[in-house]
Amino acid sequence: MDIRNFQISDLDDVLRIQFQSFTDPYPVGILLDLYNKGAGFLVAQVGRFVVGYIIFWIRDGSGHIIAIAVDKRFRSMKIGSVLLENALNLIKSNGIFTVKLEVRKSNITARKFYLKMGFKQIKYCEKYYSDGEDGIIMQYDITGN
Ligand SMILES: CC(C)(COP(=O)(O)OP(=O)(O)OC[C@H]1O[C@@H](n2cnc3c(N)ncnc32)[C@H](O)[C@@H]1OP(=O)(O)O)[C@@H](O)C(=O)NCCC(=O)NCCS
Repeated sequence: MDIRNFQISDLDDVLRIQFQSFTDPYPVGILLDLYNKGAGFLVAQVGRFVVGYIIFWIRDGSGHIIAIAVDKRFRSMKIGSVLLENALNLIKSNGIFTVKLEVRKSNITARKFYLKMGFKQIKYCEKYYSDGEDGIIMQYDITGN
């Protein structure tokens, strides 16, 4: 598996994975906006196929995971772990040691995934999402070494 920067030619694959992964996928315009504004945007490639992606920001002194998803057929193969580890390393290389994200209360798989990766639940937010679902803010503190 290769982890590399997103290219515009990956857009269809990212959209496909996004639509199979989220009930509220980002519109393509927002994805392109994030890319054009310099968000971190990595994809995982197996053979010729893009099988996962992660998007992240560095803002106000902390890293922020905006989205991560793996093609359903390739889940539970550590691809999400490797994508997230690569993003955390890039964030750390910018001298940033705190990383945050939000996750839906109902997204038990993602919550377990983030806990396994070392994130801690730091805040519970009622009706955080526009459809009224509660959200959980999680944080990862990167160690210095
Ligand atoms: C969350 C997601 C990115 C994880 O990617 P993945 O490549 O399948 O995860 P990994 O194989 O790296 O799993 C790492 C750990 O996460 C946890 N985990 C992953 N999938 C899990 C599942 N279905 N049930 C329980 N725990 C799970 C496990 O602890 C696992 O470690 P283990 O295999 O040693 O038990 C993937 O499930 C996904 O794309 N989900 C849909 C999109 C999404 O919800 N994104 C997050 C939005 S906030």
